[in-house]
Amino acid sequence: MTANRDLPIGVFDSGVGGLTVLKALRERLPAESLIYLGDTARLPYGTKSAAAVSHYALQAAHALVRMGIKALVVADNTSSAHALEALRAEFPGLPVTGVVEPGAAAAALASAQGRIVVIATDSTVQAGTYPRAIHNSRPGARVISKACPLFVSMVEEGMTDGPIAEQLARHYLDPLFANADDGQKGDCLLLGCTHFPALADLLRRVVGPETAMVDSATTTARAVEDLLEHRGLATGRAPERARVRYLATDAPDRFARVARIFVPWTIATDEVEVVDLA
Ligand code: DGL
Repeated sequence: MTANRDLPIGVFDSGVGGLTVLKALRERLPAESLIYLGDTARLPYGTKSAAAVSHYALQAAHALVRMGIKALVVADNTSSAHALEALRAEFPGLPVTGVVEPGAAAAALASAQGRIVVIATDSTVQAGTYPRAIHNSRPGARVISKACPLFVSMVEEGMTDGPIAEQLARHYLDPLFANADDGQKGDCLLLGCTHFPALADLLRRVVGPETAMVDSATTTARAVEDLLEHRGLATGRAPERARVRYLATDAPDRFARVARIFVPWTIATDEVEVVDLA
């Protein structure tokens, strides 16, 4: 029988961008098996209401729990922003980690003057969860949330740098960095969306070397590692036995193709299992 600690970790996202979190988890926890579920039939979540996103997130979590997981990681920022409490209430025995709390805590620490700019989808910005979480760690911080919805489709087009990508990044960010008055400029940029780590080099150029940059994916992997240690849930198996399973709710071919933007390894179309969450 599989011991609880040798069960996989379930990772959920609206689509393929959450592979940035899966990648961070594989780097940090190479011995852990992972099941990644992308709700590709219903993405994007970033334009949807709190009620719709919570409903979808609960359905995805139920599907993963039915498969047998020891912990759930909500890689999707929009679901983490709207549905984390509902997920924790629905599965009281299951450790549930979202990307918002670890990212917010890391930004609160990384910012020198407490002037934090959070970039995210529209729906994540509407939720207000990032500012609340940052203020929990650093009550005096000034937090500006900026929706950057076009970044999502731009990254999925494979445009992670170049003149068009730079122009768009400057359109969103120059008012808060390069063109802001001294004393008003952000001193920390928090990447509050799965897709934005793919733009890290470009964003670094746009906000300048003096700005701290925090990515929720790597900070979340660290939080999951701590949580598994604390609860005695870290696997005892060797890394060679770790398996990664990919599930999507539609279009496995697009999943496999777009995945190349987010992870350096290849995912074949026939490795992606199509599941129905309804
Ligand atoms: N995964 C979403 C997020 O991190 C971005 C893509 C979407 O809108 O579904 O907020």
